[in-house]
Amino acid sequence: MAQEKILILDFGSQYTQLIARRVRELNIYCEIHPYNKIPELTDNIKGVILSGSPFSVRDEHAPIPNLDGIKGVLPLLGVCYGAQHLAKDSGGEVLPSKIREYGRANLSFVNSSNPLLEGISEGSQVWMSHGDTIITLPKGFQIITSTEDVEVAGYQITKEKTFAIQFHPEVYHSTDGKQLLSNFLVNICECAQDWNADSFVQRTVEDLKAKLGNDKVVLGLSGGVDSTVAGVLLHKAIGANLYCIFVDNGLLRKNEFENVLEQYRGMGLNVKGVDSKERFYEVLDGLSDPEAKRKAIGNKFIDIFDDEAHLIEDVKWLAQGTIYPDVIESVSATGGPSATIKSHHNVGGLPDFMKLKVVEPLNTLFKDEVRRIGRSMNIDESLLGRHPFPGPGLAIRILGDVTKEKVRILQEVDHIFITSLISAGLYDKVWQAGAIFLPVQSVGVMGDERTYENAVALRAVESTDGMTADWVHLPYEFLAKVSNDIINKVKGINRVVYDISSKPPATIEWE
Ligand code: XMP
Repeated sequence: MAQEKILILDFGSQYTQLIARRVRELNIYCEIHPYNKIPELTDNIKGVILSGSPFSVRDEHAPIPNLDGIKGVLPLLGVCYGAQHLAKDSGGEVLPSKIREYGRANLSFVNSSNPLLEGISEGSQVWMSHGDTIITLPKGFQIITSTEDVEVAGYQITKEKTFAIQFHPEVYHSTDGKQLLSNFLVNICECAQDWNADSFVQRTVEDLKAKLGNDKVVLGLSGGVDSTVAGVLLHKAIGANLYCIFVDNGLLRKNEFENVLEQYRGMGLNVKGVDSKERFYEVLDGLSDPEAKRKAIGNKFIDIFDDEAHLIEDVKWLAQGTIYPDVIESVSATGGPSATIKSHHNVGGLPDFMKLKVVEPLNTLFKDEVRRIGRSMNIDESLLGRHPFPGPGLAIRILGDVTKEKVRILQEVDHIFITSLISAGLYDKVWQAGAIFLPVQSVGVMGDERTYENAVALRAVESTDGMTADWVHLPYEFLAKVSNDIINKVKGINRVVYDISSKPPATIEWE
């Protein structure tokens, strides 16, 4: 039996991914699809959720889904825009709100005998975010909950399993939001709640076995969480037919290549370490523009990976650690003509001429789910808990041109910073940390001597997805000790600064 799932039809709301997260937290698999690209309605689809939207249903170009085969057939839950669309589409009236409602509200009436609202009481706090209000409902629609200001805060189409709510249950501030979603998914859609890390691993390994048979697969490992988890899953499915390649581009952290290679081998992976440091330094020679550096590194990586892949006789597949946020097709919130596909840093960069078929075993998972899958396969916490590290590595943390000597200095600085974070118990509280080599020299004194050496910046940020970030308020005592250690131990550095910029308007990396 195919995996049960819930479809989430996206109308461009900023919260659509959050709905998906909440559904999955209930151990139910779900997928997000643009409202105008509904996939085939197979038997394993247990219900459908319509997301919110930056559009108004009254807009000339308001997104209108074709719900044939869904509405009145499958359980359906409209959220915000979804609720307004369902009402308007059947002849209800939706008008601009007298006051635009954003933020907290409380339910003043709750029909708690309605299956959607079981266990939710009057007074429950909900999160509103809408500029339109449903004024009148069509016949056959029944109000099931209200707030002081919004009479139609929720309704059901009585003869159908069609429900709708004006507020956002997926948002943390809707205190009973999880209960409401659970009511819909478990009681109304009758989902089995059997989607968890172990069942994902089991099902994916079976699927990979069936798909790949005796074919050989090549995978580029980076030391990062995604490629590591992808590697272990594939290894479980096809064993020695998985050929892993780990390239040392000379821009990794200190000792990273040796340590991680060792760990991979300890896990039984068939991995070839390729020391290509000099080839990368060669192409970087004299380049100082960040994008030129990125391009040179990307192209060189492809060359090397391609050379290595050609050494594997008869390889048919290229595996990648792509994850779900990279492949979700999102509806343009600015009202652009069609769906936009997110472009992302690392994937899509491998050459067509390799003529390999692509397999991406993690492309339905969010980042923390990848970690959970990794844990269920007993991958070491030191690999799973790693901070993200950019593909071009230290090259984009050395401002301006990259030389072997600058890399060496930065590796030492970074090593002191990261090991200090670990020993102070701060590493896991930080989303990403690193050091930046500044092309600035400044005057200092050491002993009786005047010095004129380089400065480095330290950066540590909190974030959930890298899209926004804030600097971490590391303790002064900690910063003092790290700064002292760096200046005393790393020759060539006489000044350390700490980056206190948030993203936006700054970025996490300096280049
Ligand atoms: P920014 O600097 O854009 O970084 O705020 C956001 C996240 O992306 C990482 N990053 C990269 N990752 N190749 C990568 O693989 C790149 O060229 C690249 N640039 C930035 C950055 O480390 C952070 O996690």
